[in-house]
Amino acid sequence: MTANSNSTRQILVTSALPYANGPIHLGHMLEYIQTDIWVRFQKMRGHECHYVCADDAHGTPIMLKAQQLGITPEEMIDQVNAEHQQDFKDFGVAFDNFHSTHSDENRHFAELIYNRLNDNGFISTKVIEQLFDPEKQMFLPDRFVKGDCPSCGSEDQNGDNCDSCGATYTPVELKNPRSVVSGATPVLKESEHYFFELPKFEAMLKEWTRSGSLQDEMANKLAEWFTDGLQNWDISRDAPYFGFNIPGTTDKFFYVWLDAPIGYIGSFKNLCDKNPDIDFDAFWSKDSSAELYHFIGKDIIYFHSLFWPAMLEGADIRKPTSVYAHGFVTVNGAKMSKSKGTFIKARTYLEHLNPEYLRYYYGAKLTSKIDDLDLNLEDFAQRVNSDLVGKVINIASRCAGFITKKFDGTLATVNSEEALVKEFTDAQEEIAALYEARDFAKAVRLIMALADKANQYIADKEPWQLVKDPAKSEEVQQVCSVGINLFRILTTYLKPIVPSLAAQVEAFLNIELTWDSISINLQDHKINKFKAMMQRVDMKHVEAMVEESKENLQPAAPVLDANSPLAKDPIADEISFDDFAKIDLRVAKIAKAEHVKGADKLLRLELDLGGETRQVFAGIKSAYQPEQLEGKLTVMVANLAPRKMRFGMSEGMVLAAGPGGEELWILNPEEGAQPGMRVK
Ligand code: MSP
Ligand code: ZN
Repeated sequence: MTANSNSTRQILVTSALPYANGPIHLGHMLEYIQTDIWVRFQKMRGHECHYVCADDAHGTPIMLKAQQLGITPEEMIDQVNAEHQQDFKDFGVAFDNFHSTHSDENRHFAELIYNRLNDNGFISTKVIEQLFDPEKQMFLPDRFVKGDCPSCGSEDQNGDNCDSCGATYTPVELKNPRSVVSGATPVLKESEHYFFELPKFEAMLKEWTRSGSLQDEMANKLAEWFTDGLQNWDISRDAPYFGFNIPGTTDKFFYVWLDAPIGYIGSFKNLCDKNPDIDFDAFWSKDSSAELYHFIGKDIIYFHSLFWPAMLEGADIRKPTSVYAHGFVTVNGAKMSKSKGTFIKARTYLEHLNPEYLRYYYGAKLTSKIDDLDLNLEDFAQRVNSDLVGKVINIASRCAGFITKKFDGTLATVNSEEALVKEFTDAQEEIAALYEARDFAKAVRLIMALADKANQYIADKEPWQLVKDPAKSEEVQQVCSVGINLFRILTTYLKPIVPSLAAQVEAFLNIELTWDSISINLQDHKINKFKAMMQRVDMKHVEAMVEESKENLQPAAPVLDANSPLAKDPIADEISFDDFAKIDLRVAKIAKAEHVKGADKLLRLELDLGGETRQVFAGIKSAYQPEQLEGKLTVMVANLAPRKMRFGMSEGMVLAAGPGGEELWILNPEEGAQPGMRVK
């Protein structure tokens, strides 16, 4: 089918399923915005297009994260699902369905596909040896083992590669290995695993690569993988695991990546069950003539272009028409970074900036290639301001006032610039072809070149001069009506990228912007009063967003046991170094210590700071008799604002450590430490 085909196509589109253990960030958003633009375009062209997605809810990291939070995985994934859906909605990403891989539909299709693969002879088993955490009683995925690099000896390296020397290895080769989950030393343990026999699909995959409309870069990657040789794929994991049981077993589970892509089918089935008009089989049967596209990031090509088509083929289900990969988002030329504040969550962005800015910026830079895309924040502000506000919206704001004030909001009855308007409407097939080919950047360039022309036309006609001459009133109406029509055409072209701006234009023009109506000139038509449609991007808001993303920074959450003290009493919000530097810690000598009448926990201390004496009430009675303390040294916060307590003023705070009760330690006098010394 070609882009300008008039017949209705049936198209099913997916974006990769985000993991249910973390928030959506601006890197993810590239994919959902790209897909959403493409889907909105297809719908505008009148095709039957469905866009489905889901949370990817299974796997070890999700199981452990829930344990760490002290909730069930089900509770956690429900919570995250709601947050994800809200983020997408607020960015204008209009899924027809957003489901979860932890669903009845998905279990059904995972079992169905597995059973068919098994019946068709594509599943085998093999006993393998893996690292096992004897304390936590679980097998450890590579990323949950750390140790010393077998090559250079660097400590605290990951289970599969060394940050320090770049060596790659298996976790078994690590020196002094330890489980990230419990800290225990892992042991080797055998277990039977289930494998999907991928090599049996080599010929089919080669054929699929050639017949599909795969990107060149993807076809090249596949060619490399064929040369390296395909391997059987380990699709099982042992209990404990959050996922679906493999049929016929009680302690084996589908590896998360087995049921994740099946989630595309599960979500679509869930949509069909809610909308009886949509024919499930028309999209998924072996002989389906519907189109099926998966939009993904470059990091997950292997799963979508090898395992997934092979699984479908082996289970007698249709294969994707194509898989479209995009590159990774960098911010200001570098990998998104928590310390620089460029690891920006979707929610943080939404609290500071209009989502359409980002949709426009990504749209203006996206091509059909797998190249990475840089979100340069200065360029982002500049581009949105000069294109959307300065060029596009400017056309309407220059023309609308005259129509409202002088002509009662009614457009001219004739089109006085047929050639110019035709140039704008003639661009529709070229722009459609660029959208179809996912070359949004080129489509936007074309649209902005037309916007320049529209502005030039208005600048040449100078309606603000014409209006001074009562004899030229009709011309003013005509010029401004042409301007409004050019604006209408441009915003129709931009509608898939900036749908909420388009909705405002629709309210302003009293019409729906549709692809079919591009060539219908608005004449003798009443429009509404023009209202400002979009603020310029203010760098102050961008900077505030980056600042807040820095404050959001918390050290990579360690995997904690549910009964770790940190699980119950998480470390407080991060403070900046400047905050910390404000605390003046001093060595103080306990000159006097005594009981406080009526207080169960407090002792009254007189602290000698080497010249200055402070009274402090400290909750350490459970651990010390007053006489034990006199003459000892402690560390105190010397610049804490005095606090009035029931028993008197407390002029500081002493630091003690320990679990409490009788075990609460204070420093012993130490040689060299002197009252009043600053603690560094
Ligand atoms: N759960 C898997 C996908 C399963 S699909 C059957 C997964 N999840 S993810 O949350 O890590 O990523 C979801 C999508 O966002 C992936 O396509 C991934 O490539 C994309 N991106 C994640 N970070 C990204 C950037 N920094 N830049 C661009 N895309 C990024 O992978
Ligand atoms: Zn190393």
